[in-house]
Amino acid sequence: MKQILVADDEPNLRRVLAAQLQREGYEVHAVADGAEAVAALDDHHIDVVITDLRMPKMDGMELLQHVATHHPEVPVIMITAHGTVDTAVEALKLGAFDYVTKPFDREELRHVVDKAARTGELRQRDVQVEERGRYRLIGQSEPMVQVYEIIERVADTPSTVLITGESGTGKELIARALHEQSRREKEPFIRVNCAAIPPDLLESELFGYEKGAFTGAVTSKPGRFELAHRGSLFLDEIGEIPPSMQVKLLRALQEQEFERVGGIKTLHVDVRLIAATNRDLEQEIAAGRFREDLYYRLNVVQVHLPPLRDRISDIPLLLEHFVEKFAAKLKRSVRGFTPEASALLLKHPWRGNIRELENVVERCMLFCDGGRIDVPHLPAELRKTASAGTPTPEGLVAPLSLSPGSEAAGLKEAVREATAKLERELIVRALDQTDWNVTHAAKVLKISRKSLQTKMKELGLREA
Ligand SMILES: Nc1ncnc2c1ncn2[C@@H]1O[C@H](COP(=O)(O)OP(=O)(O)OP(=O)(O)O)[C@@H](O)[C@H]1O
Ligand SMILES: [Mg+2]
Repeated sequence: MKQILVADDEPNLRRVLAAQLQREGYEVHAVADGAEAVAALDDHHIDVVITDLRMPKMDGMELLQHVATHHPEVPVIMITAHGTVDTAVEALKLGAFDYVTKPFDREELRHVVDKAARTGELRQRDVQVEERGRYRLIGQSEPMVQVYEIIERVADTPSTVLITGESGTGKELIARALHEQSRREKEPFIRVNCAAIPPDLLESELFGYEKGAFTGAVTSKPGRFELAHRGSLFLDEIGEIPPSMQVKLLRALQEQEFERVGGIKTLHVDVRLIAATNRDLEQEIAAGRFREDLYYRLNVVQVHLPPLRDRISDIPLLLEHFVEKFAAKLKRSVRGFTPEASALLLKHPWRGNIRELENVVERCMLFCDGGRIDVPHLPAELRKTASAGTPTPEGLVAPLSLSPGSEAAGLKEAVREATAKLERELIVRALDQTDWNVTHAAKVLKISRKSLQTKMKELGLREA
């Protein structure tokens, strides 16, 4: 049974409202002010809030703000007196679901509450999907499929994994996915950002310390290795650890044991190690900044995340994913991008990879009030490509190498190849989406069924 919270300081009105809602099959919690409402929200699983504006202690607007921040999935219906449309509009701006005016029209009330209850249900489902899929990995391109295969193969093994890739390619996400897909899932996942911890504190952070080990060590404290016992330890930005620590880390990994700083007891822990870096460790070794033996110790299994420009077929999926994510978070009914905006997004080099793309989508959403995101909503750096009239599809050309020799022919060839590649990827994606139903895929691609069939033949996706 859906639960409705009614907040109104007028006892008669509370009774009338409660009676009607109960008749309609809702469970009703009636309270006299905002403060009581806040308590009720904590105690019960409330599906919809109906609140009066003027109440002692905490008024309706404050209650609305409380719900918006603490229970964002719960729709709030405001009760307004006749002729106070301004306040109602104000409430809607602040995120109220709808308003009803006193005296109530029973039909109207029924309709609004019913709509709110259904919306609340959808929102709750979204929230849950979001939480379960927190580490959902988006991308179906060849390189990502390979990454998934490695994850599947090694997630549930004790092997150390080294994740490499440019900044923003999803290294941390992969580390968490490895943990979540292992039988250590319920145990701790401890992340250490090696770049953020001052070098002289790194040892005590990792291995802990005993009371009196140094000035300020008034109590003893376990390190991250101990905290990660039975779980996974994620050493992020491993390329940043100083050489002295590299030796200590190597020893801990090799011997599977260590001591706290200032401690004499040798500790053993059961920890699955995952490390990540955006540096080229082999180059670091050559430069004498990273120990080769530690590198081999860490690099048992390597997951390399290619930059986004080398997997442009994932861009549409990622855009879609983040639009959905931010539409829910920002409560905007944005549906996607216009073809013009999409074209620019596909051409962008995405040097900041997925993190940059995520930020761009969020910024677009802030400037778009609804419908589709269009070119003017895009950040300036993306629009520039458009106004300059010089599309530089680095994303398309990067995976191809121009062969030396006749430059003109090389360029033309590269462009042709890149276009064909993109076309093929978009077509395959539409087909995958529609279980290879050509009619449906043609609709998705906004081309005729006939031209899709022709293209499929040309691209070798179908027998001629
Ligand atoms: N395949 C993916 N699907 C969905 N979201 C992703 C994917 N890869 C990365 N992201 C998102 O992109 C953002 C950056 O990812 P993450 O922090 O894992 O990157 P990183 O490689 O650790 O970057 P840095 O080197 O800068 O720390 C995160 O918000 C993450 O959720
Ligand atoms: Mg990271």
